[in-house]
Amino acid sequence: MSDLLWQKPGVAVDAQIQAFLAGDDVILDREFFLHDIRASGAHARGLERIGILSADELAALERELRQLAEDFQSGEFVLDDRYEDGHSAIEARLVERLGDAGKKIHTGRSRNDQVLVATRLWLKEKLARVVELSRQTVRIALDRAQAEADVPLPGYTHLQRAVVSSLGMWWAAWAEAFIDNARRAADTLALVDCNPLGTAAGYGVNLPLDREHPTAELGFSRIQLSPVYAQLSRGKFELAALEALGSSTLDLRRLAWDLSLFTSAEFGFVTLPAQYTTGSSIMPNKRNPDVIELMRAVHASVAAARTEVELLLSLPSGYHRDLQASKGAIFHGFGRGLAALELLPALLGNLDWNTDRMQAAIDAGMYATDVAVEQAAAGVPFRDAYRAAAESVDTAGAGRTPQASLAVRVSPGAAADLRLDILRARLQELGD
Ligand code: ARG
Repeated sequence: MSDLLWQKPGVAVDAQIQAFLAGDDVILDREFFLHDIRASGAHARGLERIGILSADELAALERELRQLAEDFQSGEFVLDDRYEDGHSAIEARLVERLGDAGKKIHTGRSRNDQVLVATRLWLKEKLARVVELSRQTVRIALDRAQAEADVPLPGYTHLQRAVVSSLGMWWAAWAEAFIDNARRAADTLALVDCNPLGTAAGYGVNLPLDREHPTAELGFSRIQLSPVYAQLSRGKFELAALEALGSSTLDLRRLAWDLSLFTSAEFGFVTLPAQYTTGSSIMPNKRNPDVIELMRAVHASVAAARTEVELLLSLPSGYHRDLQASKGAIFHGFGRGLAALELLPALLGNLDWNTDRMQAAIDAGMYATDVAVEQAAAGVPFRDAYRAAAESVDTAGAGRTPQASLAVRVSPGAAADLRLDILRARLQELGD
């Protein structure tokens, strides 16, 4: 690492200590680098508005920031351990190219608000993607709920055959779940949609910074006003975002479990398109549902990221270098979580049902609840009806079909009254 921007004469820099401080920061900052450059441009324009930079200096900085972004994307510029972190790398490059104009860009800001604004922009992007992927998932689940509404599927509790259910009910469950997940991600996006740039190290600066302009330019809906709170929100917002993501990956884990069971020979309800399975290296007879297993695994990474950030935040107010470690957590959590969610809509769109197997798995006992409730509706006290039905479980199916059971499941939300229109309306509220 050459030329640390804060280096003082006479103080030797120990390479091992510096390497420890930087950690994998330069690697992680590659993820946030373009956001940092974008926010640096906004900061420079803000400085020009209050007379710290001349129009010419601003133009030069804008040109070099653009060039740096291009060089970074083309691989011409590599963010590596020549630098302490991405934030100082930007400044170093501007100083190298522009001299004094480059040295001015850090006026009125700190790496503390610089990294905050870059990661904030990044979080907003990721949350928007969670919203979009959740919406796509909902659309497919709703379409299939409608198209396959009356197809019988065994309903399980405790993994035991319980009552007759339907594909309509199975799909509607995931539709409603992912509507909530989209809602939660959108609400969290609104929560974190505030601009920390201009709070400096966490205590403001003795300059009349124009904070409104960069806030609007960067697409934030409000200023994050208190400089002290801006630092308090680092980690807290990351945690909220991971929580929101976790709603989706948690549902995904349970969905993947259903598919794992349903694709097993014992159930045989679902066939996955071949590209979602892999072969065994030793057992020639097998196709393995690896995709859904790895989808199931990602919630562990999201939960780990959440826990890591939460434990990091055991800090007094103000900036602490500890906070640097939150970048790895969000990178890992969102990297793994979103990669799985990206595959979900197409997986749901392409899976096939083996309706014969599903129908065959519905046994007589699964009508026993229908029998008891029917009697109760005719005036028999429910506990008596329940006891009578329990005694004749084996014959509960006599004369009954799954289709007929579903046709009278009229409680709101159940098979005969799915009310998908309500779910569609909620999807539309999410901007669909
Ligand atoms: N790389 C650091 C981070 O991500 C930047 C801030 C460093 N600030 C400092 N005062 N040492 O948190």
